[in-house]
Amino acid sequence: MSRRSRRLFACVFALSAMATAAAAEPPARPWMNTALSPDARAALVVQAMTQDEKFQLITTAYGSASDGKPAPACALGSAACTPAFARLGVPALQETDAGLGVARPLNAHSSDVATALPSGLATAASWDPAVAEAGGAMIGREAHRKGFNVLLAGGVNLLRDPRNGRNFEYAGEDPLLAGVMAGHAVRGIQSQHVVSTLKHYAVNDLETARNTMNAKLDPVAARESDLRAFEIALGIGEPGSVMCAYNRVNGTYACENAWLLDQVLKRDWGYKGFVMSDWGAVHSAAKSALAGLDQQSAGETFDPQVFFAAPLREAIARGEVPQARLDDMAQRILRSLFAVGAIDHPAKAAPIDYAADAKVAQRAAEAGAVLLRNQNHLLPLATTLTSVAVIGAHADKGVLAGGGSSAVTAPGGNAVPGLAPTVWPGPVMYHPSAPLAAIARRVGGKASYASGEDIAAAAKLAASSAVAVVFVQQWAAESFDRPHMALDGNQDALVAAVTKANPRTVVVLENNGPLAMPWLAQTAAVLEAWYPGNAGGEAIARLLFGEVDPSGRLPLSWPRDESQLPRPAIAGAGLAAIGLAPQGQPADTVDYDIEGADVGYRWFQRRGSEPLFPFGYGLGYTTFGYGPLTVTTDAAGAVTASFAVTNTGKRAGADVPQLYVQLPGESVSRLVGWQKVALQPGQTQRVRLALPAVRFARYDDHGHGWRVAAGRYRLLLGRSSAQIEQRAELQLPAVFPAGAQR
Ligand code: BGC
Repeated sequence: MSRRSRRLFACVFALSAMATAAAAEPPARPWMNTALSPDARAALVVQAMTQDEKFQLITTAYGSASDGKPAPACALGSAACTPAFARLGVPALQETDAGLGVARPLNAHSSDVATALPSGLATAASWDPAVAEAGGAMIGREAHRKGFNVLLAGGVNLLRDPRNGRNFEYAGEDPLLAGVMAGHAVRGIQSQHVVSTLKHYAVNDLETARNTMNAKLDPVAARESDLRAFEIALGIGEPGSVMCAYNRVNGTYACENAWLLDQVLKRDWGYKGFVMSDWGAVHSAAKSALAGLDQQSAGETFDPQVFFAAPLREAIARGEVPQARLDDMAQRILRSLFAVGAIDHPAKAAPIDYAADAKVAQRAAEAGAVLLRNQNHLLPLATTLTSVAVIGAHADKGVLAGGGSSAVTAPGGNAVPGLAPTVWPGPVMYHPSAPLAAIARRVGGKASYASGEDIAAAAKLAASSAVAVVFVQQWAAESFDRPHMALDGNQDALVAAVTKANPRTVVVLENNGPLAMPWLAQTAAVLEAWYPGNAGGEAIARLLFGEVDPSGRLPLSWPRDESQLPRPAIAGAGLAAIGLAPQGQPADTVDYDIEGADVGYRWFQRRGSEPLFPFGYGLGYTTFGYGPLTVTTDAAGAVTASFAVTNTGKRAGADVPQLYVQLPGESVSRLVGWQKVALQPGQTQRVRLALPAVRFARYDDHGHGWRVAAGRYRLLLGRSSAQIEQRAELQLPAVFPAGAQR
């Protein structure tokens, strides 16, 4: 692990910062004219900037003390900062992680806290862009009130492997779903005058050897999968920043990869924001600058040198890098700050309503939990239960979170401190929202807890209780992948013993993503709660007792076991600190061409194999029926699909009807649309989905764009990628769709 240790000093909470050394008379600041476009305003600042000021803007310093070095004067104890340009009226850049809340890396002992959203996968599993946008707005607001104007939030790497340690930061396996959800999260963040950062661009789909690993993926397949997710998120959210990744892509480091940065991102997608490097992802000055990198992040702490200081100055002096490229870097950064209002509405300290923000996190957890199994309607539980056994996973204290730079310390701090690893990528964090207390409140205190360490004691408690709810946990974190899908420790044996002792057992999963469930057939019910965030205990209890209907759908395919994956083994995966010592050396190259653009459900379809649970799957406490599917097309190739959804059950609930398409001559399908529909019992709603032509297109490398081939397409209306209810044929004309970013 090349990441250096991160420690915090007391932070200075102030946005006022130092003027540059050679402070001149304040200029007239014509760029403060809000009637001008962000581009025009940025250009005016660039014109007024000295060369030194430009260089100050294109590098940031690590925002915390580390390795014995004190934090820089601009630091707020976070990921990075660059001092204010007082002469120009441009505030300090204050950057912090990330997508699940305002994180202060390794600050478990700090008194500063923030609201923790559930994992990105939970938000994606809501299939509700409004949930993602509300979560984004909430964390953006908290960031702004803590003095930050750049959030390193917007993880959209595709889930190609359930063992990837950062799946919980991302939005699943499908480029459209992931792109839409991440795009709305970004939009929410930026609505608060805070720049958001799509990351990690690109194909950073595993953590093992991430700093050097070469991701091999055919460029067309990349455009139709990993890059497509970025393209869609970019079109919706218009993030001010994109973070290039650690890894190499087809042999070239992502942060000096001209194809990725200059060609695809800036030329093909017309991106006007700036590219910042990941922390320790820069390997050169001129090559990176010419490839399209605009800002080197925390280089003096994480890179071999600050390439965007003396080495880049020399490259410009030699004429190797044009001055115009430096000006463009500054222009892009400033443009993004103007575009979100970070200069007109500077971040400043203001009170935060943590109780209100916790409700945003709770609603996301409730909307994204997925009911995987519910035999004989064991769920929802009745509040009249005589006794409930609550077992395992520290459910008496809180709910698990993922680790690494995205980890948030929620109000109340870590509910279970001291678990290994206590240092990077730890500490293992439990948010203090105890499921036990939330369950006990609903059954009048008749809930008892067993830790599960003593399996016999837990089984005894289960046997003497009307219902058992057993929690299992799978901690994952940035910087490592799990070598397999098995649960740690004695948890499989625990679940097996509890289900044997009491067949009325519900298993609740707090996890990064798909895990092996050898005991599945013996359980009555399984609820996927992901990492449920800082109101997770309350959300889980409300779902179990039917105060809210589970309506999440899997944003991923759940394999039966590793043998179903494109790459059954990840050499070198693991983390000794949690008893998973890495075996073997990591591979130099990961071959993603095995599945190419057929990620997740498309891989299963191509192989003709069945996952344990398909992409799009999820149960609820009510049932839904679909009316006939009707489809119209227009000359531009846009498709409108329409059908009625009826709640045919006895409880209020929400459904997620999904539309897939099979392209001419293809047997695999592709998600092209969906809608989350909340209905009262007996209520019907007509769903009309406008599907832009690009959703039916393939990437045409020769034509250098998206192209819909003329022919017969098959539209599928399903409850999941595997449970198709209706089919409709449609004829599409050949088109080169505009507006490809949606
Ligand atoms: C992570 C990024 C994060 C950055 C700053 C890196 O190690 O990969 O996601 O934003 O650190 O903390």
